[in-house]
Amino acid sequence: MAFHNVYPDYQSLITVNVSLVHKPAYHFQPKQNWINDPNGPMYYKGFYHFFCQYNPKGAVWGNIVWAHSVSQDMINWIPLKPAIVPSKWFDRYGCWSGSATILPGDKPVILYTGVIKETPDPGYQVQNYAIPANYSDPYLQDWVKPDNNPILKPTRENVSSFRDPSTAWFNNGQWKMLIGSRYYDRGIAYLYRSKDFVKWTRAERPFHEKSETGMWECPDFYPVSSLGNRNGLDTSTLSKDTKYVFKVSLDETRNEYYTIGEYDAINDLYLPYNTTIDGWAGLRYDYGNFYASKTFFDPVQKRRILWGWANESSTNDENVAKGWAGIQLIPRMVWMDPSGKQLLQWPIRELEALRGQNMNVQDVNLYKGDTMEINGITAAQADVDVCFKFSRLRKAEAYNRNWDKLPQQDLAEDLCGIMGATIQGGLGPFGILTLASKNLEEYTPVFFRVFKTRVKKYKVLMCSDATLSSTNTQEYKPSFGGFVDVDLADKKLCLRSLIDHSVVESFAEGGKTVITSRVYPELAVGLDAHLHVFNNGTEPIIIERLEAWSMNTPMMN
Ligand code: FRU
Repeated sequence: MAFHNVYPDYQSLITVNVSLVHKPAYHFQPKQNWINDPNGPMYYKGFYHFFCQYNPKGAVWGNIVWAHSVSQDMINWIPLKPAIVPSKWFDRYGCWSGSATILPGDKPVILYTGVIKETPDPGYQVQNYAIPANYSDPYLQDWVKPDNNPILKPTRENVSSFRDPSTAWFNNGQWKMLIGSRYYDRGIAYLYRSKDFVKWTRAERPFHEKSETGMWECPDFYPVSSLGNRNGLDTSTLSKDTKYVFKVSLDETRNEYYTIGEYDAINDLYLPYNTTIDGWAGLRYDYGNFYASKTFFDPVQKRRILWGWANESSTNDENVAKGWAGIQLIPRMVWMDPSGKQLLQWPIRELEALRGQNMNVQDVNLYKGDTMEINGITAAQADVDVCFKFSRLRKAEAYNRNWDKLPQQDLAEDLCGIMGATIQGGLGPFGILTLASKNLEEYTPVFFRVFKTRVKKYKVLMCSDATLSSTNTQEYKPSFGGFVDVDLADKKLCLRSLIDHSVVESFAEGGKTVITSRVYPELAVGLDAHLHVFNNGTEPIIIERLEAWSMNTPMMN
């Protein structure tokens, strides 16, 4: 599926009823209606601001405006009126995605895509800017769109593929920013430069491009420290201790990839290292339900925060019936893995303030076929942190060397589909069964399976499998997978899962591999949801330590 499904008959159907059955409690979402991409996250005068694509009328994509909320901890949210809504000729048919940049003197400015005509499909796109009406209002409730908009118009070839301006960065006397585009099937991020943030000129060469990747939506570009610490860096940072991350969202496959590389600030070019794959088989922040992500630098806690949208796996009719669709995942801190080969991600620590009633398990053996229920917490609204140990690697299943010829992402997903949690293995599958119904008619397992290659290296597969998540046959129930880059010298694998009614967001090995599933159980809802730990491999597994918490409900819009 490319772009958003457009349902002219549905998009203005007013939401009359909001069903809470599957509505996440601690993941960001409005009271009702459709949301998609995170937009313009930033910090201003004591508040984190968050905007996102929102349909103020109904629960399917359409009538897009920028919803706006503020928070002091990115967990409890106060809703404000939409910040940017169609009101001028240059955004008449939609205020699409964009980013915030803080100009000197603590002056935020928003760049966003305006749609000025409905044709050609999916709309004629220009770039606009908006500034606060009143800088002394820490809520920044009112935004002004100056009359010299649009600041950028598309060229003849890309009128309908020219969108999603990035946060700008400053060097050599100019602001620089990226816009997502394509030329036929070639994904392109164009670089624009400006001295005054109003008059922008396109650089001769694209910042980066790649054939056969289709339209690049929501490009994001930022520095990460290569000094082995978790500190985030301001987007304009130029230093020898810095590497750069470039991310795009692929409209054709509706997933994202990122590369790590160098930034040539003289020519304004991005050069990915050849250790990361530049294309749809590249590294992903999340191997599941995750799209249109965007980062920002938090100047208070000196960290870089990643926001990502998790789309639905329920049908359009179901979304209309429940009156809401789409959530934002828990903001994640991102930083460079010490190996320099990938990023690490972890839910912001503010989330831990929601932890309530808790359960602990230590040193429990799980033999082949064992499951153990974790009682005493609200399993539909929980945070689970567990480390598994094993004494030998000998039973790891053979890794077929032909598999290396396949793109790793496809392979991981295929293996998770074929070798599910119920298929007995050697070292694994072991992990947790989330959102499980009483008699296990439904459950979403998150688990590991270890393979051994011919050169006695180990390949760890992580799966989050929605196949049996719901007895409802209408839902999209993919089995997501990703490899976890660990050497297993310590014979240990750890997993953290955030479970929230219709979302399971899981982090393996301190955030090396992350997978999100959206699921709609029929039986495993509310207090009827259960949580288990399981092992279905012949090698015994020890739960070294498990902690699970009921999660309280924050103030959510
Ligand atoms: C990504 C995207 C953006 C666009 C927005 C419209 O999901 O398609 O490219 O600006 O959504 O809502």
